[in-house]
Amino acid sequence: MKLDITKVTPFVGLETINGYKTRAIEAQKTLEDGTCPGNDFLGWLHLPSSITPDFLAEVKATAQTLREECEAVVVAGIGGSYLGAKAVIEALSNSFGWLIQDGKNPTILFAGNNIGEDYLFELTEYLKGKKFGVINISKSGTTTETALAFRLLKKQCEEQRGKEVAKKVIVAITDAKRGAARTCADKEGYKSFIIPDNVGGRFSVLTPVGLLPIAVAGFDIDALVKGAQYMEKAPALAAEYAATRYALYAEGKKIEILANYQPKLHFIAEWWKQLYGESEGKDNKGIYPASVDLTTDLHSMGQWIQEGERSIFETVISVENPEHKLLFPSDEENLDGLNFLAGKRVDEVNKMAELGTQLAHVDGGVPNIRISIDRLDAYNLGQLIYFFELGCGLYCQLLGVNAFNQPGVEAYKKNMFALLGKPGYEAETEAIRKRLA
Ligand code: PA5
Repeated sequence: MKLDITKVTPFVGLETINGYKTRAIEAQKTLEDGTCPGNDFLGWLHLPSSITPDFLAEVKATAQTLREECEAVVVAGIGGSYLGAKAVIEALSNSFGWLIQDGKNPTILFAGNNIGEDYLFELTEYLKGKKFGVINISKSGTTTETALAFRLLKKQCEEQRGKEVAKKVIVAITDAKRGAARTCADKEGYKSFIIPDNVGGRFSVLTPVGLLPIAVAGFDIDALVKGAQYMEKAPALAAEYAATRYALYAEGKKIEILANYQPKLHFIAEWWKQLYGESEGKDNKGIYPASVDLTTDLHSMGQWIQEGERSIFETVISVENPEHKLLFPSDEENLDGLNFLAGKRVDEVNKMAELGTQLAHVDGGVPNIRISIDRLDAYNLGQLIYFFELGCGLYCQLLGVNAFNQPGVEAYKKNMFALLGKPGYEAETEAIRKRLA
């Protein structure tokens, strides 16, 4: 993995960035010593190197059971309990994989990340008559979105497959002791995995939260972990990213747009947005993490990026080598005028679009960071994941916020429970009804 900040330095001097980099490297010590805010949640820091072959074998064995017993597996979870798995699976899957029923891999579906009635209805319809299983993921074990979806899925699975088979194909990933998901897993005798106490949701992709669904989808979790282990030993890159972000923020760049040129990376950006947004957006501070899929969004957001308010910077994730080779054909009539591209790889055009866009954006006043990976495989994704996690941990130390809590997420829950009349929320219910009257 490479990090290129040469298109930032016209906006912020290298000396400034290097000054923050020194501070970021010092901040690493506070993570290592556990002297930073939120120090109960630093289990992710040396998670990759603590993963043992026996643990990976246990995850793979459970994945194999689900692969053998299920045509479809629904991953129920929200936020950090789904985005990492979704991101890696999408990045590694065939773009049209959902159309290919080759019988080798179960279809992986996601639920519990919204409360859309149509979504859940259509999911349960799709699952009718199918041999499906469920991975129920919730660290707290009490998240409403996930619990609602799981209630529906558990019932349907038991009705369709019988209680005995359901026990085999429902797996819980949750806290060791607390929460309804734990109580249910223990009572029903489901296979379960523990989310370590000291690893928060958005830093949990390298625990069973991400590893099990990724293995069920048929991808190489050994390579994913190896990539993360490599990056754990190379923290300077993450420190440079953290320092560059912080230098840009200090210059008034309040929005970071993560751009990709491969549609498969769409959910990597969604995972990244949660990681950074939930970690740094507090105390009325923090860069707003946004994302675009390019070149697609050059035809929607491109105008804004080029000429809108100059409070943004862009971080491009570039994949050096595509997995497949496809050449543009020559056309005798050349009606589209594109014969000058005949014989060229599609990726060559994509790369020129990327370079041309980057130069245009820099000319338009948008500092550009470029992160490049050799290819889109499990090993490189493992590197990218750990790089972003550490970058986030370090940057939040520079910003002076606790990266590992999310107190703001409670506000909507309190109102929702009050509006729904949840037992225990009587006073809130009365207050909110008065407010709305
Ligand atoms: O990063 C986080 O901690 C959150 O986004 C959680 O992952 C999310 O709220 C889901 O929580 P839980 O796993 O407890 O259901």
